[in-house]
Amino acid sequence: MSNLKFISAVEAASLIENGDLVGFSGFTAAGCPKEVPTAIARRAEEQHAQGKEFRIGMYTGASTGDSLDGALARANAILFRTPYQSNPDLRKAINAERAPYFDKHLSELAQELRYGFLPKPKFAIIEVCDINQKGELVPTTGVGIAPTIAGLADYIIVEWNSYNPKELRGFHDIYQPLDPPHRREIPIYKPSDRIGLPYIQVDPKKIVGVVQTQRPAEVGGFSPNDEVTERIGDNVALFLAQELKAGRIPADFLPIQSGVGNIANAVLDSLSKNSHIPPFEMYTEVIQDAVIKSIKDGNIRFASGCSLTVSSPVLEDIFANIDFFRDKIVLRPQELSNNPELVRRMGVITINTAIEVDIFGNVNSTHVLGTKMMNGIGGSGDFTRNAYISIFTTPSTAKNGLISSFVPMVSHMDHSEHSVNVIISEHGVADLRGKSPAQRARCIIDNCVAPEYREMLSDYLKLTQAVHTPQNLENCFAMHREFAQSGDMRKVVWKTKQ
Ligand code: COA
Repeated sequence: MSNLKFISAVEAASLIENGDLVGFSGFTAAGCPKEVPTAIARRAEEQHAQGKEFRIGMYTGASTGDSLDGALARANAILFRTPYQSNPDLRKAINAERAPYFDKHLSELAQELRYGFLPKPKFAIIEVCDINQKGELVPTTGVGIAPTIAGLADYIIVEWNSYNPKELRGFHDIYQPLDPPHRREIPIYKPSDRIGLPYIQVDPKKIVGVVQTQRPAEVGGFSPNDEVTERIGDNVALFLAQELKAGRIPADFLPIQSGVGNIANAVLDSLSKNSHIPPFEMYTEVIQDAVIKSIKDGNIRFASGCSLTVSSPVLEDIFANIDFFRDKIVLRPQELSNNPELVRRMGVITINTAIEVDIFGNVNSTHVLGTKMMNGIGGSGDFTRNAYISIFTTPSTAKNGLISSFVPMVSHMDHSEHSVNVIISEHGVADLRGKSPAQRARCIIDNCVAPEYREMLSDYLKLTQAVHTPQNLENCFAMHREFAQSGDMRKVVWKTKQ
């Protein structure tokens, strides 16, 4: 280890100048550096106090921990930021235009950096559980875009976090596809295939410092399932069990992708408990608490993902039983965990959460009332567009019923009717496959919409003439306008021609 230069977080931060572009390892709060970003935020505050400009451009895998996105947002230190985020302070900064943000499909970011579509980072800051003089960096619990930024950056700062055991070596599968015109098929044929190295190989000469820490991961816990999330989960399990029985899903099942958050966690609980669904594999982005429980119970055979986004007690359980999990989990760069070619080829069944769905099957995953960024598209587009069956779940209402999640026209569209197969709320399942727009509208209203909004949306359909897609341009955003004016979509009155 003698060639490695150990430095403090403050020394590391002092290397970074105003306007520098910095790439960070990790995915969600898992695998993200903590000490150095916090020190960069402090440096920004000091520079601002002296009247000097200090902002950095930020490339991350996805959302990060509070000591990264939160600290830099609060310090007003963001020149630009991409992709997915979920930190409340960063969200505020984005929606106040203090932090310019552009949203990207997560599978695309690494290749777009290599193609030169985005300027390359000067620094890569990578959290590791182990490192050696040959430049072998073993990531911790999340990979993200770490291999690409480590390759492109001029300088690498390593955050060696010994909260994570060195025995995580062997959990990762690090591989970067060649760029066109030399790219070949990615030789993963089932979720458990491994095709790369168990570490990120970097040029050791680029490592300008190693910062040591023992800081725990910053992943928050999950809320316990409530009646709505449980009913959504049960409806998903019931639907998939019926598809299996009908022979539309092969008898030994297909890999599952499940999105982020509490609903996704509840859906996985329900799938694992359903006795008609055989033990299955995951080809997914984030591996959450419910997956770990199901692996232990034998209901999930294998999980391929980009991060172990699990709460602290679950992470400690994994560390305590690391040899049990070693051949049941693989962590890959997001370019592979979310890869459209692989999702399509392996027949992944995808389950993601919508903010808003329209009665024709278009989905808004990102924008609250069409203007305010919530989190970002994340991997939902990577998976949905290429799914064997694409499912979106949503509670039928938000804000205690003041908002209907089902509206005539989505106020922002992330996933179009052409990519969305099935919608599931706590009330039931709308299977949109093979249906015309008018038939889809009827199916969604009858099966998924909250009872207090059913008549209203049925009346909306009566406002239109016989056309292919029965939209009424006078009224399609009336529910949104009503919420903006009175705070209650239930008060909407449709405008009819006199
Ligand atoms: N109109 C306005 N606000 C709405 C709404 C609607 N139709 N539906 C939900 N909201 C609000 C909720 O009230 C809540 O507000 P709050 O933060 O003030 O409480 C907020 O939006 C989030 O809703 P919640 O039910 O807590 O969502 P969640 O934690 O289940 O997350 C998404 C839902 C869509 C935000 C989240 O899944 C996401 O970011 N998805 C996009 C990325 C993705 O799918 N990634 C997975 C791919 S692998």
